[in-house]
Amino acid sequence: MKRKITVAVAGLGNRGNDIYAHYQLVAPDEMQVVAVADPIKGKREAAQRLYGVSSENCFETAEEMLEQPQLADVCVIATQDKQHVEHGVKAIQKGYHLICEKPISPSIEECLRLQNTAHEHHRVVAVGHVLRYTPFYSKIKEVIEAGVIGNVVTVQAMEHVTYWHQAHSYVRGNWRRSEETSPMLFAKCCHDLDIFVWLIGKKCKRVSSYGDLYLFKPEMAPEGASVRCLDCPVKDTCPYDAEKIYVTSELTGIRKVIRENRTQNAAWPVCILSPNDLSEEAIYRELREGPYGRCVYHCDNNVVDHQVVNMEFEDHVTVNFMMTAFTSKGGRTIHVCGTKGDIVGNLSDNKVTVTRHGEASEVIDVAHGDMSGHAGGDNRLIHDFLSALSEEEGEENLKTNIDVSVQSHLIAAAAEYSRIHQGASVDIQNYLDEEKYKDM
Ligand SMILES: NC(=O)c1ccc[n+]([C@@H]2O[C@H](COP(=O)([O-])OP(=O)(O)OC[C@H]3O[C@@H](n4cnc5c(N)ncnc54)[C@H](O)[C@@H]3O)[C@@H](O)[C@H]2O)c1
Repeated sequence: MKRKITVAVAGLGNRGNDIYAHYQLVAPDEMQVVAVADPIKGKREAAQRLYGVSSENCFETAEEMLEQPQLADVCVIATQDKQHVEHGVKAIQKGYHLICEKPISPSIEECLRLQNTAHEHHRVVAVGHVLRYTPFYSKIKEVIEAGVIGNVVTVQAMEHVTYWHQAHSYVRGNWRRSEETSPMLFAKCCHDLDIFVWLIGKKCKRVSSYGDLYLFKPEMAPEGASVRCLDCPVKDTCPYDAEKIYVTSELTGIRKVIRENRTQNAAWPVCILSPNDLSEEAIYRELREGPYGRCVYHCDNNVVDHQVVNMEFEDHVTVNFMMTAFTSKGGRTIHVCGTKGDIVGNLSDNKVTVTRHGEASEVIDVAHGDMSGHAGGDNRLIHDFLSALSEEEGEENLKTNIDVSVQSHLIAAAAEYSRIHQGASVDIQNYLDEEKYKDM
């Protein structure tokens, strides 16, 4: 008999509120939000209204919430990257199981601390590697495991960040400075690295990486560009113009959000500028005064806008991965090559093409059921985690847990170490044994 799982949410941002707490509205029989923490009053009030959280269980900080006796079965850790482990360790010690957003932490020492605490207290920790739950990557995994393409020998993959997404999150937004949140390989690409580990099913032995910040810096600004977009004389020719991205764009602008009467959880990225007021006036006010109206050439960002990572896994399996800001459309593409065939796919299309060498290709459409949030991954992860707890299955059947997630974080850290050391080849076991992560 399934029981409803109670949840405390630390951090009511885009993830904590719009995905995790919101799941109560998607599946009210599975989960009930009973406590929340966020410094922003409006977000706490919205949680009371939307999920029926009592006022005494609304806290200004996760720290305060975690000082109370255990309030729920699960704590969702959806605060910022560098807060996860502090909050997660406290929550585990109180007795909570965790959904911890990725990255666990940009620090390997901190990742290991959370892992050890979870083991010590026998708590289930799911890390927000939602791509494992997408029908797209699940199908690729299924085809590989069925032996259709023989042994996997090479993987080539690309993360198409998109010019406007880079500008939004990694130039103007939260993840613009690696020392404040995380380097790009943790902030964005730990998903990709995690997928390689999962699909190949082997350990990564060595990595090397190159990458840099090419465009978003003052010396690359067009002549005459001003520090904010609204009054910039060269805005008409600039694709990064904030007014285009947040107001007029048919893909990302507020006008389309209003026209389609979308709610906050379906209004990313404009909901980040003004979570409680999805009006054109509010967006213009943010563009005049807030960080998202800044010229992309005059921000205080330092994270890379392009990076490549080469990986050697056990049995000489190789992976070549590239992230780039400079794509017109978003998505992830992958080409898995095996001894008897190959698999090609684009996450944005939700189509997987499987070809046995010498035979006709089969195109598989994987879009079925709930395809919201990360190509269907977000809600499936939450459902799986809640089911594991309510049926007391433990974590054996979970696709993502702390142990497997630490592996992708190690690859990210070793690759970042390589990038900083001019692309030097880094042996991951040595990197770990010699605690080179402490030098970063
Ligand atoms: N799994 C994924 O695909 C995915 C996607 C996007 C973001 N993320 C990760 O999820 C995390 C949250 O990202 P987001 O986009 O929701 O960010 P966000 O900034 O929208 O949300 C963070 C929230 O934490 C709150 N907060 C800050 N300090 C707090 C404290 N001490 N106690 C409680 N709340 C506090 C902030 O007010 C904010 O509302 C990040 O680590 C991010 O990297 C994961």
